[in-house]
Amino acid sequence: MAGSFGLGISSADDPVDWDALTRYATEVMQRAYAPYSQYKVGVAGLVDDGRVVLGCNVENAAYGVALCAECGMVSALHATGGGRLRAVACVDGQGRPLMPCGRCRQLLWENGGPTMELLTARGVVTMDQVLPDAFDSSDLDAAADTTGPAAPDQENPA
Ligand code: THU
Repeated sequence: MAGSFGLGISSADDPVDWDALTRYATEVMQRAYAPYSQYKVGVAGLVDDGRVVLGCNVENAAYGVALCAECGMVSALHATGGGRLRAVACVDGQGRPLMPCGRCRQLLWENGGPTMELLTARGVVTMDQVLPDAFDSSDLDAAADTTGPAAPDQENPA
């Protein structure tokens, strides 16, 4: 299936095979479209059902609308059946671990949560280490609890 390549390298309880994830990320990095920055990125994510989803960066002549590799991977996650990201390896053009940018950390948080593991140059870390005090859906829920709809007499005082 597009984006997941039918890759299944583990079941939910198996230890994460970081070498395999890095290999997949390095392979898809070679498909990056980065003619403006020449900075290719590839990413592979292990889903909680054992699927592996992939992404590469896709740039644009309008520089600001470039898609990071993680955007493609998150899209592939949903396009191929959803689920939660368990572990992610993101690599640069040399296949070395790359720290996801701030926006992409937010995307990873949404789809993997605080316990999702990320391979970095300093080893495997969890999302709550790379995005402390993250904003997420619980903040929206908390706001709804405290504010609620405005009372009619406050909104339209007589
Ligand atoms: N890039 C990613 O794909 N992911 C990141 O987390 C950081 C940056 C891409 C965007 C752009 O195409 C290139 O790297 C240089 O910034």
